[in-house]
This record gives sequence, structure tokens and C-alpha cells, in this order.
Amino acid sequence: MNQRYDPKVLALICTYCTYTAADMAGSMRLQYPSNVRVIKLLCTGKVDVLYLLEAFRSGADAVMVSGCEIGDCHFLEGNLRAKERVAHARTLLAEVGLEPDRLEMFHIGASDAPKWAQTVDMMTRRALELGPNPLRLRAGAEQTKELEVRT
Ligand code: FES
Repeated sequence: MNQRYDPKVLALICTYCTYTAADMAGSMRLQYPSNVRVIKLLCTGKVDVLYLLEAFRSGADAVMVSGCEIGDCHFLEGNLRAKERVAHARTLLAEVGLEPDRLEMFHIGASDAPKWAQTVDMMTRRALELGPNPLRLRAGAEQTKELEVRT
């Protein structure tokens, strides 16, 4: 494990369930890694495969999508659609040589603050074990080269 590596974990979460759990985790002062950056969505059904791929292209080391429990989605099947899209995006990640485990779908209910904290902790540990997203390293190297050419 690289001690100097500080993973970036992106969480795309629905406002009705997982965001409420995350908010409650804060109120309960539950401890979890500060590596997570949250994007709140009305429903995980809004998640598109392109958003997921763009997150990795932009340098996320791990991405988690989390919505309501199965059967609790306020838009009926949004979380089921998200689950399918995440599964599809995982196969695309594998095709381009990225570990599919960098991406995962979760279902965290509104009252399950501890599960939110545990899931963020788990995804951060996983990102640490997998190491930095190679796309981020490549983008950083290209940026350095560009700067060297300019100077
Ligand atoms: Fe939460 Fe659809 S409203 S996943």
C-alpha cells in the first residue's frame, strides 16, 4: 500500500435514501475517510454509463453509486437501471484495462448511516489496495510533459 497515495473516491448518491444516510452519519459524528466526494442525484436512475467512464477519465480512483434499497426507489426502477448501467460500465472498464472493482453499486437506506460510513471506508480501502487510477497518472504525466515543452 502506498502511504503517500490519497485516493479520490466519487460517490453518486440519490437524495432520498443514501444522501439522507450520509447526512445522518454526519449528525451522528460517525467516522469515515474524507476521501469521498459526493454528487447528489434525484435518483440513481439518472446515472449514465458515460458519467461513470468520465469520472475515471477525470481521475477518480474509485466510484460508488448508491441508491435506495431494492423496491424503495421513489421513481420505481431507477436503482435497478443504475445497477444494470454500473454492471455494464464494469465490463467496459475491464475492456480498457481498469479493474472493475473500482466501481460498485450499493443500496443504502435513509436510516442506515453506519452502512454509509462502512461503505465509504471499504471503497477507500479498496482504492488504496488497487493503487492510483492509471488514467490519472497518465494525465498527470502528459500535463508535466506539456509544462516542460512550454518552459
Ligand atoms: Fe433513490 Fe431512485 S430515488 S434510487
